[in-house]
Amino acid sequence: MAFQVKEISTKPFEGQKPGTSGLRKRVKVFQQEHYTENFVQAIFDSIKAEGATLVIGGDGRYFSLETVQTILRIGSANAVAKFIVGKDAILSTPAASNIIRKYKADGGILLTASHNPGGPDNDFGIKYNVSNGGPAPENVTNKIYEKTKTIQKYKIIEAPAVDLSKIGDFTYGPTKVSVIDSVADYLILLKSIFDFPLIQSFLDAHISDYRVLFDGLHGVTGPYAKEILVGTLGLPEASVQNCVPLPDFGGGHPDPNLTYARSLVDAVEKNEIQFGAASDGDGDRNMIYGKGAFVNPSDSLAIIANWAHVIPYFQKNGVKGLARSMPTSKAIDLVAKKKGLECFEVPTGWKFFGNLMDAGRLSICGEESFGTGSDHIREKDGLWAVMAWLNIIAAANAKSPNKLIGINDLLLAHYEEYGRSFFSRYDYEEVPSEGANALVAHINDALKTGSLINTTHKSPSTSTEFTVSNIYNFEYTDPIDKSVSSNQGQVITFSDGSRVVFRLSGTGSQGATVRMYVERYVPPEAGAAELARDAADGLKGLIEVALEITKLKEFLGRDEPTVIT
Ligand code: G6P
Ligand code: ZN
Repeated sequence: MAFQVKEISTKPFEGQKPGTSGLRKRVKVFQQEHYTENFVQAIFDSIKAEGATLVIGGDGRYFSLETVQTILRIGSANAVAKFIVGKDAILSTPAASNIIRKYKADGGILLTASHNPGGPDNDFGIKYNVSNGGPAPENVTNKIYEKTKTIQKYKIIEAPAVDLSKIGDFTYGPTKVSVIDSVADYLILLKSIFDFPLIQSFLDAHISDYRVLFDGLHGVTGPYAKEILVGTLGLPEASVQNCVPLPDFGGGHPDPNLTYARSLVDAVEKNEIQFGAASDGDGDRNMIYGKGAFVNPSDSLAIIANWAHVIPYFQKNGVKGLARSMPTSKAIDLVAKKKGLECFEVPTGWKFFGNLMDAGRLSICGEESFGTGSDHIREKDGLWAVMAWLNIIAAANAKSPNKLIGINDLLLAHYEEYGRSFFSRYDYEEVPSEGANALVAHINDALKTGSLINTTHKSPSTSTEFTVSNIYNFEYTDPIDKSVSSNQGQVITFSDGSRVVFRLSGTGSQGATVRMYVERYVPPEAGAAELARDAADGLKGLIEVALEITKLKEFLGRDEPTVIT
């Protein structure tokens, strides 16, 4: 059948600048006439679309099915050779990264707004990934943005919609469309990384005293988790909950943290579950939470790195280097030091790890924002982290026949070996941009004039004193391509080694979101009681001082943060 390529006149929309992870806006914004088409055409104008193989997937959120058809029609008109599409438009972000790499595609388009709520009144997103399977670097996203500012027309073919519910190969104008199983390749990948037989024998032996619960928060990971935990490891059906992906995530906020993953926390506490975990809308984030045992993501990263030798993938490939994003606690640095490994500090955003991985200098990395992963793909990977923890627990227990080792035992053992970096993050969501900018300007002012350096501040409730030793704006020069990223967060350091970081979120879709990260290190010598303290308690004084010297509450007009991690 001949397909006619039509050229449709359009006008640029303002603000189609991709953020940390693609273009994220309210669904209603994407639904404006030509809005989505413009952005999709801008992607094709910025890459070599002709003859390309591209992957399409996403978290299945509201407006995904329509958008896949839009991409197929515009892509075909732009002479894309082949699209590989997840069944029902579903591919978790890590699964899509794997598919891009495995099938040597030129890139991929992911329809997700990650952990942001979905549905007609909430968020949608379009993100472009490049051929290494990772998020597009800034030179690509800037190019896309430039194209959106001058676009006058897009190309499209008229063709009937492809049935995305059927696995198989279709011909679509000049383009081949392959609809694939969303889960199969990802399961093969995880099986090649982790010690499934060891995990299986541990879980079988402890079916009654070591229970597992995974909460999909109605995001994309449900089918993956079911296939892995129930289908492959044979755990009871009750080991998974909220595992049917819904276009609006059941009205929830699919973000695995202590506030938004309440369904997991409550079930774990009520049913005394030893190992709980949750993932976000698109499956790249994770939270590990057992009864009475919350694993801070910064600690999770350090512990996985410390135990990498029990994971077959690292036994085979070695650990080439470690890395964290700047605001993430320095717990990983201590592991790197002890093991003689290189450790990198990069700006927030998973894309900054990609070059280091491609250059063979980085194996395990993570971010405080509940992202953990490795160089098996180029995205962070929620279920990878869950399996890493199960692998570590199984290995630790294999060496401890008489005492069941749980999450808390691993945390304490880690603190006793390395000391503990108490860490917390305060999020002030959707505050007025003026207030957020004024806060940034205020800190910059102190940075320029040096007015805070060597000043000492006493916490009203704990009477601890903190002396400011330095203030700087984090800037990163990529060791591989030498590109420079400036203004990646303001850091205030104190003479006891503590630090506070301020950053504006790059992933919000409305107003501004200010994040404050606080970190205080306590050495092993402090003793078990001090090391095991509640994080909020261990950080109370530092938080009070940080709020006072920055006048944050005044600038943002908020007494309390929206979310505390
Ligand atoms: C996304 C990215 C992460 C990054 C996070 C930062 O989830 O994939 O790599 O850490 O955004 O979000 P923020 O809202 O703090 O800019
Ligand atoms: Zn995500």
